[in-house]
Amino acid sequence: MRTFILAAAILFSASLFNTSTVQAETFPVIKDQTVLTECTECHMAFPPETLSTVAWTKIINGLEDHYGEDASLDAATTAIILDYHLKNANDVTNTRAANKWRMSFPVMRIIDASRFIKKHKGCEAAWVHKDVGSKANCLSCHKDMQTTGSTKENISFLPASIRRTCGED
Ligand code: HEC
Ligand code: HEC
Repeated sequence: MRTFILAAAILFSASLFNTSTVQAETFPVIKDQTVLTECTECHMAFPPETLSTVAWTKIINGLEDHYGEDASLDAATTAIILDYHLKNANDVTNTRAANKWRMSFPVMRIIDASRFIKKHKGCEAAWVHKDVGSKANCLSCHKDMQTTGSTKENISFLPASIRRTCGED
C-alpha cells in the first residue's frame, strides 16, 4: 500500500512538473530583412500568422494612413512586405500558429482576434500600466517574441494585483 501511495505521489508531482514546464506558444521567427527593417521602427514586427490575407492586404496597402501614422514606403518595398505577409497569413500557411489564429470572420487587428482575447482575460489594468500602454505592445510582456517567437511571458514588472488577474483562466 505504501508503495502504491508513493508511486501515486511521484506520478502526481510528475504531472505538476509537466504543466509548469509546458512550452508557451511559439511563432515562426521573422527573418525577412525588409520586414524587420521597415516594420520594427514603431513596434515589433508582428507575426504574420496572426492575421489573414484580407487583413494584411488592407493594412499594408494602407500604410500612408496607419493607425494615425504615415508609415508609407516606396512601391517596391511595399510589394516585398506584402508578399511576405501574404505567404505567411493564417488562411494560407499550415503552421501550428496559423492554425491557432485562423478565424472564420477575419479581423483587422491582432488584438481583436478571438485567440488574443481568450489568452488575455482580466488584463485591462495591465494595458493601461505605464510600462505597457497598449495591448499591441506585445514585447513589454513577451520579451523574446521577436527574437525567438516564444510567447513565454514575464510580467514580473507589473504589480501583483495586476499580475493575478491577467491571463487565461
Ligand atoms: C500586459 C502583458 C501582455 C501583453 C501586452 C501581451 N500579452 Fe500575451 N500574454 C500575457 C499573459 C500574462 C499571458 C499568459 C496567459 C495564460 O497562460 O494564462 C499571455 C498569453 C499569450 C499567448 C498564449 C501563450 C500560450 O502558450 O498559450 C499568446 C499567443 C500571446 N499572449 C500573444 C500576444 C500578442 C501577439 C500580443 C501583442 C499583440 C500580446 N500577447 C500582448 C500578457 C501579455
Ligand atoms: C511610423 C510608425 C509605424 C511604422 C513604421 C509601422 N507601424 Fe504598425 N502601427 C503603428 C501604430 C502607432 C500602431 C497602433 C499601435 C497601438 O494601438 O498600440 C500600429 C499597429 C499595427 C498593427 C495592429 C496591431 C494590433 O493588432 O493592434 C499592425 C498589424 C501593424 N501595425 C503592422 C505594421 C506593419 C506590417 C508595418 C511595416 C510595413 C508597420 N506596422 C509599420 C505605427 C507604425
